Amino acid sequence: MLSATPDSPTDPPAQQLADVAVIGTGAMGTGIAQVAAQAGHRVHLLDAFEGAADKAHQRLGATLTKLASKGKISQADADAATARLDVVDRIEDLPACGLVIEAIREDLGDKRALFTALAERQPADTLLATNTSSLDIAAIAEGLPQPERVLGLHFFNPPPLMKLVEVIHGHNHEGPDGHVTAESTQVLNRAAELVRRWGKTPVSCTSTPGFIVNRVARPFYGEAQRMVADGTVDPATVDLTLRRAGFRMGPMELTDLIGQDVNLAVGTSVWEQTGRDERYTPTDYQRGLVEAGKLGRKTGQGVFSYDDTGRALDAEPDEELAAKLTADDAPVRTNPVARTIAMLVNEAVDLVARGEASAEDVDTAMKLGTNYPKGPLEWGREIGFGRVAEQLRELDEAFPGGRYRLSPGLLEGDNGTAP
Ligand SMILES: NC(=O)c1ccc[n+]([C@@H]2O[C@H](COP(=O)([O-])OP(=O)(O)OC[C@H]3O[C@@H](n4cnc5c(N)ncnc54)[C@H](O)[C@@H]3O)[C@@H](O)[C@H]2O)c1
Repeated sequence: MLSATPDSPTDPPAQQLADVAVIGTGAMGTGIAQVAAQAGHRVHLLDAFEGAADKAHQRLGATLTKLASKGKISQADADAATARLDVVDRIEDLPACGLVIEAIREDLGDKRALFTALAERQPADTLLATNTSSLDIAAIAEGLPQPERVLGLHFFNPPPLMKLVEVIHGHNHEGPDGHVTAESTQVLNRAAELVRRWGKTPVSCTSTPGFIVNRVARPFYGEAQRMVADGTVDPATVDLTLRRAGFRMGPMELTDLIGQDVNLAVGTSVWEQTGRDERYTPTDYQRGLVEAGKLGRKTGQGVFSYDDTGRALDAEPDEELAAKLTADDAPVRTNPVARTIAMLVNEAVDLVARGEASAEDVDTAMKLGTNYPKGPLEWGREIGFGRVAEQLRELDEAFPGGRYRLSPGLLEGDNGTAP
């Protein structure tokens, strides 16, 4: 439970916490507003669509009441958090805030226009944060008088439940030498400290395509889809092997839950933003599902078919095949677990080698953002980075073209010292 109680004697009392504005009160904005209000901030809701912020306000009141009726928070805390929320119709009407979080639709032009208006009206020390999933932070900040105060605060859905927040810095935080300036460091630290007070775990990364989680997770879906498409394994069995390796859901059932279209859009965005790097090429298998309207649970049919209660009808795994594919002496190219983990390790090592995030933050992000049982770098250390490199070489030989190329970080770590 989030609490408005200061966690150390040096923290300001709740009533002195700076105001927060949440702009865009859809799925994410509403959840973020709840978190901020429960943490003790006055929260101003604003949405361009008439009536949307009022609806979000009502929804939040109902959510907080429900949390109290279930005994998750006290009625007094629910009432206090509800009383801290209000609706503002125009940017001009927002009071001075300590933090503005933007969660409007994913459109660079709209976001830039909004940040321009905010920068003109909010005090110079107001943090201006975007919850963008895929846009470059520096592109959003471009042309603003103080671009260093614009940063990414990437919450995960649903924000009240998900602990992780990626705190993202872009070229707008760097000096001419390419390093984050002292001024920007202060901005980023203030933001990280704030989300920590909200009961969240901040991790830091550059504005790289997909940031940490949406980048490193790509092979979890891609490897399984490739193996199903080439007939090595059926969807239910590939899911079983990965569940047995400790993942909460298999990639097939998980993409059916997320929506094949949504998952494909994230993958395509990373692929496009990396200049169509072969490592991220979306699979024909998933494109085919989307083209056929097999979007997953929401359409009753995705990889699997679903009945009205959401139960998968045709997800019978082949136990014998699962055991055979994942046996100790099974080749890596037909072993869904070894293949997937090797690729996750490679991806994580690559991100760290490029200086985009620390090893520790990558592991934290993957465990909290995707519920992986271990961080990919922990896995790498456990398996041995040298062994992972060997596995990738085998894969590259079996499937040439660049998807399985080794990260330079992994090459350097062949002796087991990376990273
Ligand atoms: N949904 C997710 O799982 C998720 C996760 C992390 C980040 N994000 C990002 O968060 C942002 C919002 O996503 P969402 O899923 O909440 O979207 P959504 O469509 O549920 O909500 C967007 C809201 O913004 C409002 N809006 C649109 N343009 C506006 C403008 N110019 N000014 C004010 N309000 C405006 C809309 O009326 C709508 O209420 C996007 O940038 C998205 O990429 C989404």
